[in-house]
Amino acid sequence: MYSIKEFGEVDSLRVTVLMEDYAGYESDYWGSHGIALLLDVKAGNTSKRILMDVGQSFEALLHNMELADVEPASIEMIFLSHCHYDHTLALADVLGKINKEIPVVGHPEVFRKNFALDPVLKDIGSGSKNTPERLETLGAQLAFIKEPFPLMEGVLSTGEVERVTDFEGKGIGTYNLEGGKLVPDSLVDDMSIIVNLKGKGLFVVTGCSHAGIVNILEHSKKITGINKIFGVIGGLHLVKADDEVIAKTMDRLERLNPSVLIPGHCTGQKAQYRLWERFGDRYRAMHSGSVFEF
Ligand SMILES: [Fe+2]
Ligand SMILES: [Fe+2]
Repeated sequence: MYSIKEFGEVDSLRVTVLMEDYAGYESDYWGSHGIALLLDVKAGNTSKRILMDVGQSFEALLHNMELADVEPASIEMIFLSHCHYDHTLALADVLGKINKEIPVVGHPEVFRKNFALDPVLKDIGSGSKNTPERLETLGAQLAFIKEPFPLMEGVLSTGEVERVTDFEGKGIGTYNLEGGKLVPDSLVDDMSIIVNLKGKGLFVVTGCSHAGIVNILEHSKKITGINKIFGVIGGLHLVKADDEVIAKTMDRLERLNPSVLIPGHCTGQKAQYRLWERFGDRYRAMHSGSVFEF
């Protein structure tokens, strides 16, 4: 296993929400079910522009990138949080627009088919346009890694997340195809990005948190040896969670005591409202076009 002894610190982080399910009030940005978060990271003399997920609608992503004044060619790395189409479908089109070789990082299983059966059989994975062979011809330097690994100084992939809580990480009722059989899936490919903000602590960027947000944060502490969770942005996938799971999640989050909580996408309206009530000023709303600087 790759060993993470000292993974460094980041001086500043700017997160631009290029895609989210909703656009804010009176916004010219477009909302589209999915997520795409642009991370501008500075660590000493190094700066990198990393795109976490690409959403499903290339048209909406391009529209939002133009509004946010983000040149496609300025993107230096793409990180895929997991297989689902609402995070990956636009990938080939985005790479075509970036039009140069860049690393595309994800779990080794990220391009598998992932079938939902309800209400009808449907592959909700990255889609037939995004085969590894095709992506390579479009300039993707594919890096499939399931262990924790550094993306740059102060920025780490969680790798596969250890599932320790009893109320999270059991999958969303989808299936993988193995030897002609449909096998229940727990989305082992769910990975997040950890940014170690100087003087603040860990800032964790999630796609859907299918591994469970508490599991992700506990895993982040464990692999870095840093106990302060400064903040979280991304989907928390509580959209179909019952009251008990939402309450347990909030209690555990409260104990982790983040200074900033920016839930979006698949967090769901009920959980969003309760998090807002519980975390008050520490809660921030995210929409397409939101920018957060740390
Ligand atoms: Fe998902
Ligand atoms: Fe999602």
